[in-house]
Amino acid sequence: MSVIWDAKGSFKIFDDMPPRIAQIRLVSSHPQVYAPCDDSYALVDALLADRKKLIDHHPTICMEVGSGSGYVITSLALILKSESNSPHFFATDVNPHATLVTRDTLEAHEVHAELLTTNITSGLEKRLAGMVDVMVVNPPYVPTPEEEVGNGGLSAAWAGGENGRAVIDKILPVADNLLSEKGWLYMLFLAANDPLQICLEMRDRGYGSKIVVQRSTEEETLHVIKFWRESENQMEGSEGGSTPKSGSQKGWNYIFSQLSRLTFRETRQ
Ligand SMILES: C[S@@+](CC[C@H](N)C(=O)[O-])C[C@H]1O[C@@H](n2cnc3c(N)ncnc32)[C@H](O)[C@@H]1O
Repeated sequence: MSVIWDAKGSFKIFDDMPPRIAQIRLVSSHPQVYAPCDDSYALVDALLADRKKLIDHHPTICMEVGSGSGYVITSLALILKSESNSPHFFATDVNPHATLVTRDTLEAHEVHAELLTTNITSGLEKRLAGMVDVMVVNPPYVPTPEEEVGNGGLSAAWAGGENGRAVIDKILPVADNLLSEKGWLYMLFLAANDPLQICLEMRDRGYGSKIVVQRSTEEETLHVIKFWRESENQMEGSEGGSTPKSGSQKGWNYIFSQLSRLTFRETRQ
């Protein structure tokens, strides 16, 4: 048994060797680049919670949209590093400083990703259509005036426009285009983004969803939600159930109860 402490001072106990994730002291920084924060830790915690599933998933291509400091994509690369056929990693960010900082963070941990300074995944959409097995996104999600969206630099890290959905709503159809048949999307949302409505929209596109991590900080309630294509081959929705169909129904009942309660609580504050 082993114990791993995170940057926030909380710990996790593992039966086997503790998985490696990015070390804060090796994460590079720049005044114009978002430093790892509660949301980044929540996203990496979701990947750790799903670590065995991720390893068994045998992804070929993994991608992060909006990599910032590189803490998340580096952690994902380290979690999957023991894989004999190591996946190919991509990371994008609209902020050119972030791409450089991500590169330094990856190098400091001796892992590699193909990096692109671009809007969402522009330039990769043809090349990677239907090929991405794991996508991770901690988007700009803070509700702000619309004019603040897309101003570049550090404000691009949080400025999300009305309901914080301006960039999120652009990323979801892109993810749908890039994800493979077995593709999984891990995305972080604030309760104010109305994640229940996002799950319903994704359901219309044929995706199942579940909350992997849910965390309340002093300022916000964060959810990391995992999406997968609902199909006969995708058993993710059957967790705790006997067949994909009945399992999905259980999953939906759960996500409705969790998200409607949280969305309700947030909007009343
Ligand atoms: C909340 S920060 C997350 C950074 C990092 N992934 C983490 O978890 O610490 C959001 C990141 O998305 C980037 N971003 C914002 N809009 C983007 C867009 N349209 N395309 C690509 N990246 C974008 C920002 O520059 C920022 O680095």
